[in-house]
Amino acid sequence: MNKDKVYIETYGCQMNFSDTEIVASLLKAGGFDIIDKIDDADIILLNTCSVRDNAEKKIHQRLMHLKQYKKRKNKLVVGVIGCMAERMQEKLIEEEDIVKIVVGPDEYRLIPQLINQAIGGQKGIAVELSTVETYDDITPLRTEGISAFISIMRGCNNFCTYCIVPYTRGRDRSREIATIINEVKDLAQQGIKEITLLGQNVNSYTANHKGQNIDFPELIARFAEVAPEIRFRFTTSHPKDISDKLIETIAANDNICNHIHLAMQSGSTRVLEMMKRKYTYEHFLGRIQKIKELIPDCALSTDIIAGFPGETIDDHKQTLQAVRDIRYDGAFMFKYSPREGTKSYDMEDDVDEKEKLRRLNQIIEMQNNIALELNDAEIGKTQEVLVEGSSKRSRDDMMGRTGTNKVVVFPNNPPCKIGDLVKVKIIRTTSATLIGKRI
Ligand code: SAH
Ligand code: SF4
Ligand code: F3S
Repeated sequence: MNKDKVYIETYGCQMNFSDTEIVASLLKAGGFDIIDKIDDADIILLNTCSVRDNAEKKIHQRLMHLKQYKKRKNKLVVGVIGCMAERMQEKLIEEEDIVKIVVGPDEYRLIPQLINQAIGGQKGIAVELSTVETYDDITPLRTEGISAFISIMRGCNNFCTYCIVPYTRGRDRSREIATIINEVKDLAQQGIKEITLLGQNVNSYTANHKGQNIDFPELIARFAEVAPEIRFRFTTSHPKDISDKLIETIAANDNICNHIHLAMQSGSTRVLEMMKRKYTYEHFLGRIQKIKELIPDCALSTDIIAGFPGETIDDHKQTLQAVRDIRYDGAFMFKYSPREGTKSYDMEDDVDEKEKLRRLNQIIEMQNNIALELNDAEIGKTQEVLVEGSSKRSRDDMMGRTGTNKVVVFPNNPPCKIGDLVKVKIIRTTSATLIGKRI
């Protein structure tokens, strides 16, 4: 029998990319083929993000665009899964007549069944959130490469006032340690060289193991020991949970990458309070100082929101000052986007669009200049680079990343292969890339 072919398109954060691998695995077990060419698809799934209005707009546009595929192949089934499915629920089916199934992040086990019903002509929706689902027993169908994601926890209990994630992904829950360790061991055996541990708040990980409570620093220390040849990364950490113990653990293990992503959101304690971030700017700065003290070459990245309700020029200046003082290697910077159902949706969105954009651009400009200066400071240093492939520009050059997550391009001489750890001396920089040569 010909198997139905599923094409999955993923939007949003790394959790979504990791979930797509779980969905692909469930579909394969359910008798479907997973393909990477949309033209051949019998089923198209969009794994979606709701975090800002733009993210959802993109999906509405994509659904419009998919109508041409439906015209060509009448029995095509289109489904929306992920955070937007959870947020919009039956409204998605009502508003978008091309959509036949809607499945939220905790109901992926039902996808094969719902697709089969949709092929039979029946629309389907599954958006129940769970307090326990972690897909512990599912081995993700990973795309080939040297890096892999492992989700170690799901959900979020923090309810920052602007954020939709606790509503789309439900409550915080951690996976059992034994299943994660097995996954790490399997990946090591398969020759994986880099693992990123994922969770909305990875550092609130906690699980009971043989009567003992294991927290995130203990978990990651164990991995570093079980698979010393693998580089470990993790994302994202909440500033209120970044303990000395975690920083010390990173400092003590060579194979835990010296890169910490810590979302600041704002440099003003007043705004942080309105955001319910549960830390002051002083606390945040204290954590950054501790990181810089214990791991001097640690790369730092962050998220910043410009134009939160009630943000004054003075608050904005404090954010600019924070960016100037902390000197992040990288940042994701956003305009505040009101999300229906969140607490801040009821606050007056009083910074007008033009002003939000002006503030955002000021932050971006300052941050970009700092990132360039920090890249320039790498010139002359020797970095350990994990080779990911050939460079986009030239096949004679290879490309890889440092532990601090910077992209390095260098001539393939002496020749190396994907997955090698090589030493590269940085000789110059372009806007976002370090250029070097093997030593
Ligand atoms: N759990 C992660 C964040 C996940 S969402 C953490 O707390 O670090 C990723 C980023 O999107 C957030 O850090 C925030 O900067 C941004 N974001 C979330 N909701 C937003 C909104 N309504 N408007 C603008 N940016 C938002
Ligand atoms: Fe959203 Fe805050 Fe949870 Fe991050 S910690 S996912 S910003 S509610
Ligand atoms: Fe988006 Fe959901 Fe991730 S809202 S950022 S895909 S958790």
